[in-house]
Order: sequence, then C-alpha cells, then structure tokens
Amino acid sequence: MLNYLLLFSLLGVGICQQKKPNFVLILTDDQDVVLGGMTPMKSVHRFIASEGVTFTNSYVTSPICCPSRASLLTGLYQHNHMTTDNSVRGGCNGHYWRQTLQNHTFATVLKDAGYKTFYAGKYLNSYGAPDAGGPEAVPPGWTEWHALVGNSVYYNYTISNNGVPTHSTDQYLTDVIRELGVSYIENQTESEPFLMVLAPPAPHQPFTPAPRHAGHYSNVTAVRHPNFNVAAEDKHWLLRMPPSPLPASMLPELDRVYRSRWESLLAVDEMVADIVGTLESRALSDNTYVIYTSDNGYHVGQFSQVYDKRQPYESDIKVPLLIKGPGIPANTSNSLPVLNIDLAPTILQLAGLEPPSHMDGRPIVMSGEGNKDRYMLIEYHGEGRTGSVDDKCPWKYDGNKLAECYPQYDCKCQDSRNNTYACLRYIADRINTKYCEFVDQENFVEFYDLSRDSYELYNAIGEVLPAVRHWYSLLLTRLAACAGANSCDNPLNLA
Ligand SMILES: *[C@@H]1O[C@H](CO)[C@@H](O)[C@H](O)[C@H]1NC(C)=O
Ligand SMILES: *[C@@H]1O[C@H](CO)[C@@H](O)[C@H](O)[C@H]1NC(C)=O
Ligand SMILES: *[C@@H]1O[C@H](CO)[C@@H](O)[C@H](O)[C@H]1NC(C)=O
Ligand SMILES: *[C@@H]1O[C@H](CO)[C@@H](O)[C@H](O)[C@H]1NC(C)=O
Ligand SMILES: *[C@@H]1O[C@H](CO)[C@@H](O)[C@H](O)[C@H]1NC(C)=O
Ligand SMILES: *[C@@H]1O[C@H](CO)[C@@H](O)[C@H](O)[C@H]1NC(C)=O
Repeated sequence: MLNYLLLFSLLGVGICQQKKPNFVLILTDDQDVVLGGMTPMKSVHRFIASEGVTFTNSYVTSPICCPSRASLLTGLYQHNHMTTDNSVRGGCNGHYWRQTLQNHTFATVLKDAGYKTFYAGKYLNSYGAPDAGGPEAVPPGWTEWHALVGNSVYYNYTISNNGVPTHSTDQYLTDVIRELGVSYIENQTESEPFLMVLAPPAPHQPFTPAPRHAGHYSNVTAVRHPNFNVAAEDKHWLLRMPPSPLPASMLPELDRVYRSRWESLLAVDEMVADIVGTLESRALSDNTYVIYTSDNGYHVGQFSQVYDKRQPYESDIKVPLLIKGPGIPANTSNSLPVLNIDLAPTILQLAGLEPPSHMDGRPIVMSGEGNKDRYMLIEYHGEGRTGSVDDKCPWKYDGNKLAECYPQYDCKCQDSRNNTYACLRYIADRINTKYCEFVDQENFVEFYDLSRDSYELYNAIGEVLPAVRHWYSLLLTRLAACAGANSCDNPLNLA
C-alpha cells in the first residue's frame, strides 16, 4: 500500500514537473494551397511535413488578411471579433480590438501561464497607424515585439522594435524576420517555455523575391485548372463583371504574378530551414511544436478574375496547415475539416491549459480519429473604396461601392460592397458542399457539390430540393449568430 502511494506521488510529481512545450507559428500572407502554392516549400516538406501532420482540409473563416489574423489570434469568428476589413474603421486594430480583444489572444493566455512570447513580422494591417495607437503601442501578451507597421511589403518599411519604430529601406523583410527568429531561439534555455510567431510578408503583393531568388521560376506559368479564365455566368454580380473571360493580353501578367509569388516564398522556405535547424542545435526540437499556415488563399485567373483573395471559392479559403511536435505522428496526412479559429484553442490545449469557452474554434485532434462531420462558417464583408477606383475606369460613378478597379486589370474590380456573403462549408462522411448567401440586390445564392465538382464550375442551387435549401439556410443563419465552441460546433442545438 505504502509502495503504491509512493508510486502515485512520484507520478504526480513527474506530471507536475512535465515541461511546457514551446510553440513556433509561421504565418505566411496570401499563400494558397489549391494552385500549387506549397510547391516551392522544399524545406517545409522536409522539416515539417515529413516530421508531422499535413491537414488537407484546412480553411480560414474569412479570406482576407486582417479579419483572418484576428480570428487566428482570438479563436473567434468574424461576427464575434467584428474586424470586417483591413482598415481601422473596419475594426482592424481598431478601438474594440485594442481595448478588449487583444487582451484575450492565445498569447495573453500563454504569457499569464508563464510563457515568454515573441512576435516578428506582419501583425494586423492597421498596426502602427496614428489613429490606432501608433507604432509605440505593444499589444499585451508579447514580451518581445518586432511587428511590421502596416501591410506586407518587402523593402522600405518600419518595424516597431518593442515600441521603438525603426525604419529600413534596403533590408529584405523576410530575411530580417528570419534573423530575429534565429537569434531569439539561440538565446533560449530550457528553463522557460516560449511562444514565437513569425509572420513574413510573402507571397503578398508586390510579390518581390529576394534578389538571390529572382528568376528562379522564370519558366513557370500560372496553373490552368478547368476554372482558369472561364466566364462565371452563374455566379454573383462581381464575378460576372466584364471582361469575362480576360483578354489573352492579360495572361502574361497573371503568369508573372504566379511565378513571382513562388520566388518570394523561397526566402520563407530558407527561414523555415534555419528556424528548425536552430531549434535542433539548441536541443529544443523535441519539445517544440512548429505550426505552418497562411492567413488566406489566393486566386490567379480563376473564373476570369485577375489576382486577389476575398472570394468564397476553394482557392481563396483553403490554406496550408502543417504541424510537427511532441506526440504528433510523423509524415502523416489528415483530412479532418479544420479552421483557423481552431489554432488558438489547439495551442492552449497542447500547453496543458483549458481553452476558454468563449472561443468559437475547437482543439484539433491530431491523430485523425476526430469527428469528420463539420459545419464551417465563412464570412466576408465586401468593401468599396473611392480611392481604389481608377479615373480611367467606367465605373467611377459607383466609386464608393467598388474597390480595386484599375486599367491594368482591364477595370475588372476585385471587390464590391455587395461582394458580402456568408457560406456554410459542410464536410461529412460522403458530403462535401458549399452553400453561400450574398447580401446584394438579387439575394444571390450559390451552391457547389465539391464531391462532383471540385473546381466549382457549376452553381447547382437550382437542383437543391426546397427542404434541403431551407435547412442549409437555417444552419447558416444559426452559425452566423453562434458564440463559443458549444454553439458554433452544434448549430442545430441552438435554442
Ligand atoms: C486591455 O489591455 C489594455 C492594455 O494592457 C488595458 O489598457 C485595457 O484596460 C485592457 N482592457 C480590458 C477590457 O481589460
Ligand atoms: C520609401 O518610402 C518613402 C515614403 O513612402 C518614399 O518616399 C521613398 O521613395 C521610398 N524609398 C524607396 C527606396 O523605395
Ligand atoms: C539575443 O541575445 C543577445 C545578447 O543578449 C541580444 O543582443 C539579442 O538582441 C537577443 N536576440 C533577440 C532576438 O532577442
Ligand atoms: C527555361 O527553359 C529553357 C528552355 O527550355 C531552359 O534552357 C532553361 O534552363 C529553363 N530555365 C529554368 C530556370 O528552368
Ligand atoms: C512519407 O510518406 C510517403 C508516402 O506517404 C513516403 O513516400 C515517404 O518516403 C515518407 N517519407 C519519410 C521521410 O518517411
Ligand atoms: C452590386 O453593386 C454594384 C455597384 O454598386 C451595382 O452596380 C450592382 O447593380 C450591384 N449588384 C447587385 C446584384 O446587387
């Protein structure tokens, strides 16, 4: 009896003293998975995929930088964090974020639990803006802070180094982030656990590769899937805008963008190799989770669009997600449906903490034994911006309802106020569908059966039985009002 007690108390001590794991989260900007965006990432494959798990059904809840980053940091859907676009007015690093939300990220919870925390790179698009606290403001939760002021660029930027704005004209930003990350890991001992977020600008516009990588993919052209440059007559208003299809004269520009994106990613791949290598040389590898993902996907020419995100199609909402670390099976692939809002609760659970019940996401089951049925919500709030409708375009009379309409795009706009939608992305055992309702004058609805139509060529809403359509619409309404994992996970049980 005494022996048992002794054994139990020894086990108890052992568990209490178990070391907290470290976390390194690498968050790229606009990296797709559907168009081959992971092809250049040889080191990501070698050092993360072959050592861990690759999620093949990983989605973001809003296909746009700031709302998606707000979701990742807080574990909340857009309707709960209310960051609806990339501007301060649209909630990006806005008043509500700075007063309330940023106090409740996975970083603040980890810091309160004794973690050192480090951030380098793009944070929220409107970080550092004069009307959003300026670059002197360091958000709570971060003990080492090297955030980019504003949106992704590669040169000529300001970084807030722990609240001290520092300008650089000629240092390639991805390399600066890599050096900061490597230096921070070199300084670590095993005594205190750490969280590190590295958020490089690639492959965001203007797609600038490091000079050593320029021309590396000079023979690569944009991938021509069956939905490349086809007219989108059965889709919502913005996609039906002329010209459709794009004139042949525009395709070389799409090819240039596509290959520049790949080239800009090569510096990220080198960063991953150096970060993983430094973790190994400091003997920290066995106790560190490395997570690789992107804030949203991208399209280049799909359905006669130019290049952007902001649409509910797979190219834009599906992202890479790879995780390696203690207890994670090596070299595996996992098709469970997962969302960016799952990362905050997942990280907290891996750190041995209880994810707060207000978070909408749920911890990811790494083994592949999790629940395959999932109703996922995609929310996007379309923008109109006067300044981004070129005078030479014929649509200027509607300037404040349209965005990103430029002559070099043949005046095809990339966004509009009525490109506002909510979608139910439903994945289950033999079900793989998407149901979207648009907030426009037509109350437009799109439906895709991805098990038959993976390129979303055919809007099949006309074939959905009225009762089924009603059920999808009800689920979507309930999800769009959910709060906390209990209701967001079980939209049918909402009272
Ligand atoms: C959030 O944190 C900031 C800065 O630490 C603080 O000024 C503010 O009062 C906090 N807000 C809430 C709601 O706790
Ligand atoms: C850097 O940005 C400033 C301000 O936007 C601009 O005036 C300057 O020309 C830029 N310099 C380079 C090297 O791009
Ligand atoms: C690592 O430690 C050195 C020496 O103390 C210091 O100069 C450097 O800034 C530290 N690196 C980071 C990223 O904190
Ligand atoms: C591009 O193609 C040309 C002709 O086929 C070939 O000579 C060249 O090596 C290729 N360049 C790259 C970077 O693959
Ligand atoms: C990973 O798995 C693939 C097939 O699933 C196999 O071809 C490859 O050799 C494996 N790699 C490693 C490093 O085990
Ligand atoms: C969408 O907005 C544009 C710009 O205001 C307008 O011209 C168009 O008629 C709208 N379409 C629908 C379906 O609401």
